[in-house]
Amino acid sequence: MSAHKRVFQVLGLATVGALSLGLAACSGGAAGDDDVTTIGFVAVGPEGAWREANEQNIQDTFTEEAGYELKYAPATNLDQKSQIDAFTSFVDEGVDVILLSATEATGWEDSLKRAQEAEIPVVLLDRGIEPDDTSLYVTRIAPDNIEVSTAVAEWAVSAFPDGANYFVLEGPAGVSVVNERNEGFDAVVGAESSFTKIGAQTANWSTEEAKGVVETVLKSNGNDVQFIFAQNDEMGLGAVQAVEEAGLTPGEDVKIATIDGTQGALEALAAGDLSFVAEYNPLFGETALDVVEKVLAGEDVEPSIVVPSETFDSPEAAQTALPDRKY
Ligand code: AHR
Repeated sequence: MSAHKRVFQVLGLATVGALSLGLAACSGGAAGDDDVTTIGFVAVGPEGAWREANEQNIQDTFTEEAGYELKYAPATNLDQKSQIDAFTSFVDEGVDVILLSATEATGWEDSLKRAQEAEIPVVLLDRGIEPDDTSLYVTRIAPDNIEVSTAVAEWAVSAFPDGANYFVLEGPAGVSVVNERNEGFDAVVGAESSFTKIGAQTANWSTEEAKGVVETVLKSNGNDVQFIFAQNDEMGLGAVQAVEEAGLTPGEDVKIATIDGTQGALEALAAGDLSFVAEYNPLFGETALDVVEKVLAGEDVEPSIVVPSETFDSPEAAQTALPDRKY
């Protein structure tokens, strides 16, 4: 991609809700070859099947053949400071665009302002920031967590016409998608007087941790739990293990719903161990590439780009989908 310098025109973003960029012919601020667009990817790193699929898809999309140099910077043990350090390095290095999947929702204002001062557009992938100041980034590309968790809640209300005692397995505290998934779910189930929330606890996206949490919940509630909402697949599979070890039948005594739609979850749905899986589609590399090209061409980009996702509510639906699943 030819050398270019981006001229930021930060419009009245409260109204425009987008960052408009004008092009002026000059040398780019990027280090390295002017014919290559450098992308700094501040990533989460190893976290589970969803994250692996998402980050591999980004790396498979921004290739050298496509004219990009993608600098992949996964967090160290999910630590936000390592992400902020990588972000700062990318700004100092003068990459053309920064992609950010934030391990924590808060604490990004200073970094984002630095990128803005350096005229480096930032695109959020998956995770949002709080407070959500859309003047500090170009756009967020993600499935809609409110929509996805609302689908889980609406399924639960239909699956339990007389209500249920339920427990929520959450992702790590402080992660934007956790707050959004609680918001969407609670708005529907919270309005149902026949549903009783017996508790919620983080299991940090982990199968093993979720198994331990659910073992305790079942014991302390005399197994009187009919529904578990796991905010990702791995935790849902841990809940399945705990239900089985308690001598109960997942899918019958206790129904478990999850978010992500990874192969392991669909296989568990096909087997009847899970009862509902809401996809949170991780494969949006092409969308991210399109956004980057628009931003560098000075075109307007919407402040939020929703990645379509589907739901699976039966073994038959899972069996139909499994042969073509890409993650
Ligand atoms: O931010 C998306 C969430 O992060 C996924 O639902 C979960 O599996 C991942 O760890």
